[in-house]
Amino acid sequence: MIRPVLMTALLAAATPAPDSLQLNEGNIPQIVEAMTLKEKATLLVGSGFKSMLAGNLGEKGVLVPGAAGTTRAIPRLGIPAVVLSDGPAGVRINPTRKRSPGKTFYATAFPTGTVLASTWNEDMLQEVGSAMGSEALEYGIDVLLGPGMNLMRNPLNGRNFEYYSEDPVLAGKMAAAMIRGIQSRGVGTSAKHFALNNQETNRAGNDARVDDKTARELYLKGFEIAVREAAPWTLMSSYNKINGEYAQSNRWLLTRVLREEWDFGGLVMSDWTGKRDTGAQVAAGNDLMEPGLNSQIREIVRQVRRGVLTESEVDACVTRVLELVVKTPRFREYAYSEEPDLQAHALVAREAAAEGIVLLRNEGVLPFGGDVSTVAVFGVAGYSCILGGTGSGHVNAAHAVQLPDALQARGITAEPALRGIYENYLARNRVSQGMLGAGIPAEFAVDPSPWTGADAAVFVIGRQAGESGDRHVEDDFLLTDIERANLEAISSAFRAAGKKVIVVLNIGGVIETASWKDLADAIVLSWQPGEEGFAALAGILCGETCPSGRLPMTFPIRYSDVPSSENFPYNPEPEDIMGPFKKHRDRGRPNVDFTEYAEKLGVGYRYFSTAGKEVSYPFGFGLSYTVFSYDSISAAVAEDGSAEVRVCVTNRGNAAGKEVVQVYLARPEAAVPEAGAPVTRPALELKGFAKTSLLAPGESQTVTVRIAPYILASFDAESGSWSLPQEPLFLAGPNCAELPLSAGCRDL
Ligand code: BGC
Repeated sequence: MIRPVLMTALLAAATPAPDSLQLNEGNIPQIVEAMTLKEKATLLVGSGFKSMLAGNLGEKGVLVPGAAGTTRAIPRLGIPAVVLSDGPAGVRINPTRKRSPGKTFYATAFPTGTVLASTWNEDMLQEVGSAMGSEALEYGIDVLLGPGMNLMRNPLNGRNFEYYSEDPVLAGKMAAAMIRGIQSRGVGTSAKHFALNNQETNRAGNDARVDDKTARELYLKGFEIAVREAAPWTLMSSYNKINGEYAQSNRWLLTRVLREEWDFGGLVMSDWTGKRDTGAQVAAGNDLMEPGLNSQIREIVRQVRRGVLTESEVDACVTRVLELVVKTPRFREYAYSEEPDLQAHALVAREAAAEGIVLLRNEGVLPFGGDVSTVAVFGVAGYSCILGGTGSGHVNAAHAVQLPDALQARGITAEPALRGIYENYLARNRVSQGMLGAGIPAEFAVDPSPWTGADAAVFVIGRQAGESGDRHVEDDFLLTDIERANLEAISSAFRAAGKKVIVVLNIGGVIETASWKDLADAIVLSWQPGEEGFAALAGILCGETCPSGRLPMTFPIRYSDVPSSENFPYNPEPEDIMGPFKKHRDRGRPNVDFTEYAEKLGVGYRYFSTAGKEVSYPFGFGLSYTVFSYDSISAAVAEDGSAEVRVCVTNRGNAAGKEVVQVYLARPEAAVPEAGAPVTRPALELKGFAKTSLLAPGESQTVTVRIAPYILASFDAESGSWSLPQEPLFLAGPNCAELPLSAGCRDL
């Protein structure tokens, strides 16, 4: 600790600021010059947990109760504190405040990241981002802590619901669109968690051991796309280590790759509660420590004094914090209303869910025809939709649409007595309708026979997971015994009565489907679709919306088919689940203290398509109420290495619908990996995609997919450089297992 005398001497050495010097966009260097070292250190360290814990600790001095954190103000230089709030599915703040009795601050629970990615619609994400950004703006938020965009390396990651895809191009493009949308309202974003935070078990201590090629082509590529194509104001550095070095003090990651190679001009803030060597974080280019402890301020001052950290390293971070501050609504003194347009945003949330819901199976049952006027809705989640996952991705929603009501609005009645049974169950278990945040009571056994008088059965299967813990295989990836027994009973009773069975999956991450799909006549994947999600679902069931969602990840047959299952926590011990303040001792345990990314590029469809291994539902898959023909393709490469692929599709069915055209780079020569060997050259890689407009029956559209050279290139670890494919071969089609069109390239 620095003795007070020394500290005084140190502070006295700083240039005194003229009283008139106040921060503006053009005087950042002068402000830095005028700051004392202590002031500089103060600016790099957030204000602590006050706003996040305002509900418990009190709201005094807190700008926005429930926001995740703030920076610190330096009033003498006109530097305000700016407010940072979660999260990826909408603004997460306290819905009520002691200081404003009678007023509420609910936010729109938008569909979760997985639903948004399933839309494959960049315009839609931009629209959602714009609505989210305006909500943040009106609630006094300066930076929204999202999007979450880690790659879905393994289906059991507890936070997959917040993320976009197993593919970096889809994840990167979707995140970029979301960032553009949010930032279009003058509010910042924080793309997270940079990088390789692919498991929750021991997330603050786990060392992700990954080779360069895999890191660059898979785990960093999505962030690279977001940075190059949307310039997020900030990025959030993750808790974990990468090859032995914490991401938050990783100079290679935060300075060399992010700033020198990708030209990132924004700020990096640390993820919350992972206390590190603060000096090393500053030196690496981690500008802002969140949520911030007073001891970190002292640590920075001490390290400069000892010469461990240079003042110019501190200045670089201070400059970036000030560059952020001057962009914010708070600096512009924006007069926020605290009354966002929740009604308009609910409509956006519904539209996005309607495009993200994926129809996995349909044996001639959907959409409901005129013969369906009553349905028997089974499953707890059927009466209490799981809107999103738990933890910082949770949103305190203003309302939630429930399936029976949404069906009723479309002229279909859910059996009222059955509804009564489930609603009693929810009440007994104290689950408030539609506000299910953490945990869902287990299903109870049902006897479906009394309800077979209904015209169809809908069985909603729910799953909940979230921050700090990974999912398990038993009773989570797999159906529970009660769910399976209920499904079997419902299926046989309704089929015996000549009625159809629809299964709805209200889940945040992939589950096993292969063993039971035949028991259902239709399977609709609603994901965790936000407050309006079940209105969108009812619209799909009733044919108001033609499904156009496509899977952003693979549904494998068995969990053990996934190569990373060899190197992923399996039923982690409770002690390995990271509580917010827990310090973890490195005991060298595989998949807890370190994780080998031994499968290399063999993630998701890159593995399944290269190995020729059967899956339950392939990446990119989703049914529609119409059919599209793939008519023609042409591809050309320009001198700068960028490619342009044009694909013409036609709606050949009877319903108006949208198609998602997917363009893959093919390597027919890629060898099938030997059992247990990693994939080093994938047979297929998604390079671009486009969603058509709503095409009427008989209507055609030619979409143009432009592929930038940095997306087309592959990384050569030996030379440490990127190279473009010599004679690229592109395949196009509706999913990675069905690619009817192919084209070599002519020169543009
Ligand atoms: C999460 C972040 C979140 C932050 C602030 C952390 O624990 O990992 O995603 O933004 O908390 O709530």
